[in-house]
Parts: sequence; C-alpha cells; structure tokens
Amino acid sequence: MKVAADPDPSLVSQPDMEPEAAKDKDSFRNYTSGPLLDRVFATYKLMHTWQTVDFVRRKHAQFGGFSYKRMTVMEAVDMLDGLVDESDPDVDFPNSFHAFQTAEGIRKAHPDKDWFHLVGLLHDLGKVLALAGEPQWAVVGDTFPVGCRPQASVVFRDCTFQDNPDLQDPLYSTELGMYQPHCGLENVLMSWGHDGEAGWGRGRRGPSGAAPLGARGDPPSPTEYMYRMMKFNKFALPPEAFYIIRFHSFYPWHKFGDYQQLCNEQDLAMLPWVQEFNKFDLYTKSSSLPDVAALRPYYQGLVDKYCPGILCW
Ligand SMILES: [Fe+2]
Repeated sequence: MKVAADPDPSLVSQPDMEPEAAKDKDSFRNYTSGPLLDRVFATYKLMHTWQTVDFVRRKHAQFGGFSYKRMTVMEAVDMLDGLVDESDPDVDFPNSFHAFQTAEGIRKAHPDKDWFHLVGLLHDLGKVLALAGEPQWAVVGDTFPVGCRPQASVVFRDCTFQDNPDLQDPLYSTELGMYQPHCGLENVLMSWGHDGEAGWGRGRRGPSGAAPLGARGDPPSPTEYMYRMMKFNKFALPPEAFYIIRFHSFYPWHKFGDYQQLCNEQDLAMLPWVQEFNKFDLYTKSSSLPDVAALRPYYQGLVDKYCPGILCW
C-alpha cells in the first residue's frame, strides 16, 4: 500500500486557527492507518477500477444538461447535511459543516477577499450528485486524469488499479496517454468527480495518437460538473474561483507535483491559488462544528452578490 507522504510546504504560512482545529498536520490525509481506513480504501478501490475514459464520457453526457434539479446555493448546502464523504479519512460528519469550516478559515486569513470565502462554501457542492443516486466512488475523493497512466502520488496507486481496463490499453497506459505534452489541464479529461474535469478539445490525441481529436471535429467540451454548473448559471466570480473549484481535488498535481507533462503556463500561474485554498480545505477540518445558523446571514449575502436565485444543477 502506498504511503501518501506529506511534506507539506503549503503549511509555512498557515493561518491562525482555533487550537482545537489545529491538530497535528501529519494526522490529516493518512491513508495507511486510522479508524476510517477500510471505508476509504474500499471507496478508492471502486473508483480506480471503474473510472475510465469511457465512463467519464458517459457521465459528461448524463449530467451535461443541468436538468437534475433546480435549487439555490443554500439549498444545495443544506443537501450536504445528508452526506458523509466516505473517501475522507479525516472526518465523519456531514459535508455541510466542512463547507462552513473551510469558508470561515479562508475568511479569517483573507478578510478582504469575499469571493474566496464563498469558494470555501461552494467548493464541494458538486457532491450533491451522491444524493442523486450516484455511487460515492463516482463523486468524492481525489481526482486524477483518465486516458494516461496514473502517476506515483495517486492515493493507493499500487494496489487499486489492477482491474481498470484502461491500464491494458496501449495508448491510455502510457505516461502521456491520449494527450499532447503541456496541453493544459483544461484539456485533460479528469476522473469524474464533484469538482468536474476538463475539456475534449485541442491537446487531446486520438486513439492512433496522431492528431488532436479536437482538430477532427470531436464533440465540444463536455460538462465538468461543478465548474460547468457555475459557468452555466453565470456565477460572477473571478477566474481564480473557477479554477480552484475545478482542480482542488487534483492532489497528485497541486500537492505532489505529478502530471507536469500536461500543464501549461496558465496552470502554473493558478497553482498558488489552488495551494492556498487547499490549506483551508484540509486543515480546518475539526470535530468542533461551526454555528451554521449564526454564519448563514453572512454567506447568504455573498450568494446574493455572486450567484443569486434558483440555479440549474
Ligand atoms: Fe473539501
């Protein structure tokens, strides 16, 4: 079983936290021991077996119309009251609390950036798909590119992919897989998760490896669930917000530096934002739960400012 090493350079400027919340950083993202390990491993085993290029394309088609539900952002947050993330080794309480914990951590450290506070609240809302009957392995957890060989830092890399058919594919099992070098993450098809995945266009190579599929009249970019949902509903947030939400679960890249061969300049420019966000996504997790009722008016104000009304999910 692979040990997810945790060198953690992002913690150098860690914000002040409540003593209760600031538990030992080495105790987060522990994929080798702990009371939730069996559940976490089982979720990743299913994910790494079934997340294939084919599967991801079908999910794009299934959820691309945003006809699943119509609701406000706050109604979606409330839906997460019913979801405990089975891929998360750190917490065993409903995801709605995690949304407020993350948002409040960001608010303390970046009081002037209200859009960033809202990103904390929004970042995992795509997990409502787990409540639409999608299995958790198709919604939660770290993401990784499909269509190329999984790199070393993917969680449980060495013991969960053996039954994934794409790893028998002569193209998909190579380091670059179906992609062009430095095509940009926006052109990479990520495993289907709550923060979405990227496009089908330029940069992706056909099964022969010869020409980019986008150049051969491939379908337009498919839906990336949360990211595309925000675009679809015209969220008035800055590009950094969209990028953070799109790639915050891509730990093998933003935390461990893998998949550099797929990155372009935009990705390198955005990386510090994703890493800054990650501090709060990860290290605000605490069993002392926030007073959601007291916080709600502030975040309702941000929702009204940046993404008001009844939205298409
Ligand atoms: Fe999160």
